[in-house]
Amino acid sequence: MVKVNSISVGEGSSATPAIEVEDLTKVYPGGTVALEKLSFIVRPGEIFGLLGPNGAGKSTAVRILVTLLRKTSGRAAVNGFDTETQPDKVRELIGYAGQATGVDDDLTGHENLFLQGFLHGFSPGKKSLKRVDEMLELFSLTDVQHQRAGRLSGGLRRRLDLAQALLHKPSVLFLDEPTTGVDPQSRNALWGQLRKISREEGTTVLLTTQYLEEADRVCDRVAIIDRGRLVKLGTPGALKEEVGEGRLILTLADDTLAVRAAELLANNPEVTRVQAANPLQVYVRDVNASVIPVIDAFKVANIQIISVEQTKATLDDVFLRYTGDRPHSEPIVVGAVSSIFGTAHGRKRRGGS
Ligand SMILES: Nc1ncnc2c1ncn2[C@@H]1O[C@H](COP(=O)(O)OP(=O)(O)OP(=O)(O)O)[C@@H](O)[C@H]1O
Ligand SMILES: [Mg+2]
Repeated sequence: MVKVNSISVGEGSSATPAIEVEDLTKVYPGGTVALEKLSFIVRPGEIFGLLGPNGAGKSTAVRILVTLLRKTSGRAAVNGFDTETQPDKVRELIGYAGQATGVDDDLTGHENLFLQGFLHGFSPGKKSLKRVDEMLELFSLTDVQHQRAGRLSGGLRRRLDLAQALLHKPSVLFLDEPTTGVDPQSRNALWGQLRKISREEGTTVLLTTQYLEEADRVCDRVAIIDRGRLVKLGTPGALKEEVGEGRLILTLADDTLAVRAAELLANNPEVTRVQAANPLQVYVRDVNASVIPVIDAFKVANIQIISVEQTKATLDDVFLRYTGDRPHSEPIVVGAVSSIFGTAHGRKRRGGS
């Protein structure tokens, strides 16, 4: 049995995982290490979110899983089929909407979908037209179906792209940033549709997104990756709980007191983490019970507070905690492929990207 981040493959069910990624490594020509021994599994029917800052390796992982990119080492499989030795089997099972849309601008929405059906071996009859109509309706595209795709707005083209990915009822769906550029109302509708498809058609979904609040609502589990490595995996609820039940945001009268204030709270058992800046971010186990003791402690230490806000932990808090709040534009680059897993001295960082 393969152990992945404390979750045994097959645990709780004897079903083959819908997606298996084990020690997956990708080094691009030029030496950028996009993935470094990444491991996780996705269970059948799950909606799984792959989260991470820009350049973390999300698209690379997805492109390997959908057989568009070759891995350097490790294993990637969909419904038990290896992406490299059984790519045809994998392609039969999956739907994919990449980070850039895959629609043909010269065709209308209806034609794009019909062509997609044809490419998937649908016979061009009533059944196939019915499925095209269903997808147009599901993604609210019926009214614009006869317009050339190139003339549609970015958000509408994105929806058309998703309709294409789902047309052939794939068993596993890969969506790379499906809602980027889509307005909030349509994003909400899209997430609703995804949940519906997952529930009604049993589709497994792996998606990447920058919208953490939405990942929180739609995903059964999320994996946070940073610089090609898995840093955290779990249900959004469990990850939020681990970060702390909530957060107090204390604006201090004097910026120079932030470090002393943070030190004052560092050893408090109720406090899980403090960010020493003004405003001071204090992660606590119980928001309501912590407010008065924290204010009292500051009074005693003569640290004046201007305002106190309290919030529940969000997936953003989890994300920042595990990936840091620095900009992420510097990939890891190795001089030679063979040195990646050698000594730490074998790694160097390249400026910019
Ligand atoms: N074709 C390529 N050749 C060389 N390096 C690449 C290539 N594609 C991606 N990279 C590098 O690999 C790393 C991971 O890129 P990837 O696109 O997988 O990240 P991502 O998590 O999808 O980022 P984003 O959130 O910006 O979409 C980055 O450092 C990127 O610059
Ligand atoms: Mg990407």
